[in-house]
Amino acid sequence: GLPPARAADLLAWYDRHRRVLPWRALAGETPDPYRVWLSEVMLQQTTIAAVRPYFEKFLARFPDIAALAAAPEEAVMSAWAGLGYYSRARNLHACAKAVAAAGSFPDTAEGLRKLPGIGAYTAGAIAAIAFDRAEAAVDGNVERVMSRLHAVEAPLPGARTQIRRLTQALVPADRPGDFAQALMDLGATICTPKRPACALCPWLAPCHARAAGTQETFPRKIKA
Ligand code: ADE
Repeated sequence: GLPPARAADLLAWYDRHRRVLPWRALAGETPDPYRVWLSEVMLQQTTIAAVRPYFEKFLARFPDIAALAAAPEEAVMSAWAGLGYYSRARNLHACAKAVAAAGSFPDTAEGLRKLPGIGAYTAGAIAAIAFDRAEAAVDGNVERVMSRLHAVEAPLPGARTQIRRLTQALVPADRPGDFAQALMDLGATICTPKRPACALCPWLAPCHARAAGTQETFPRKIKA
């Protein structure tokens, strides 16, 4: 059989190849929850390249959650203009007001999940990255990585619960935020939809799909 996948091997790869992104803290530092939250909401339906200039501009205009909460709706909508999916901006503003009223950011996935516009993925990502909680953040990229690693035969969307469980089981207690972002980077740069760069993958040895030569056929999907 194949060796088990280890979080440590992915983290060692991340330490050498992590993408430098404006919302990421320096290695070893815990990032600002406001920046993490803002970046995750902006990245929900939008690419990193498109988000970059908006992220900096938005932060310059609303430097912290109190400033965002106090801003008029029109100011928030105008800073968001061009990014699309405007319900995200309205939810973001509502979220800022709720957090300002409560006096602090929820620091668990369960608490974050209750805020407007924050689903399971975003709650897991913020909890792991900003608060060092042992949570998984499973988006489409992570589904692809994990479905290949374990050669998950069940098709999406039904396989989601199984993939979530497989991911959660690998989350390391000491570096959950780095692990979440390492999976995102692996999916974006190595374990790509077409022609994945398996030779460069830190999880080459434990990958069941690769061992069978079937990596491009995962994740399985129900035919439309
Ligand atoms: N996509 C969503 N969140 C991300 C993050 N923190 N880093 C890279 N890509 C992402």
